[in-house]
Amino acid sequence: MPEYFIGTDIVSVSRIENIIQQYSDRFKKHTFTDNEKSYCDLKPNPAIHYAGRFAAKEAIKKALYSSGIINSINFIDIEIVSSDYGVPEVQLSYPNLNNTQVKVSISHIEEYAIAFAVVSLS
Ligand SMILES: CC(C)(COP(=O)(O)OP(=O)(O)OC[C@H]1O[C@@H](n2cnc3c(N)ncnc32)[C@H](O)[C@@H]1OP(=O)(O)O)[C@@H](O)C(=O)NCCC(=O)NCCS
Repeated sequence: MPEYFIGTDIVSVSRIENIIQQYSDRFKKHTFTDNEKSYCDLKPNPAIHYAGRFAAKEAIKKALYSSGIINSINFIDIEIVSSDYGVPEVQLSYPNLNNTQVKVSISHIEEYAIAFAVVSLS
């Protein structure tokens, strides 16, 4: 039977927008992959989508850390790729996680983005 671990996070869109304005290159470079930046920057309001992905990465970290399989992972090593249908799919750049499945769901309104993640270990 797989074991399941969960994580959640809520992010203020205006906070992410301010950080992007203040530290654009450095913040984006350390936090978001090229695919994520391309996806968000094409949207009419990129900050909402950056905030969603930031919340997703925090939620995934919580789920991974609570599983005990790792105790540290960089934001840039967690990638959220949107499928053709808009489903957020997770790619981890971290060794020896072959038995680890990660799922995430994102939602956002103008002010806030939230995400919920599930890690399953088989
Ligand atoms: C998919 C749907 C439920 C999303 O609801 P919503 O209220 O617009 O979305 P929210 O604002 O709460 O959340 C947006 C996030 O939902 C996620 N999302 C989008 N489409 C999704 C889908 N099909 N399945 C799962 N998650 C999805 C994305 O992560 C998105 O964030 P992003 O835009 O930054 O990538 C809604 O658009 C819908 O019912 N659409 C009609 C069916 C449809 O278009 N299906 C897909 C094409 S066949």
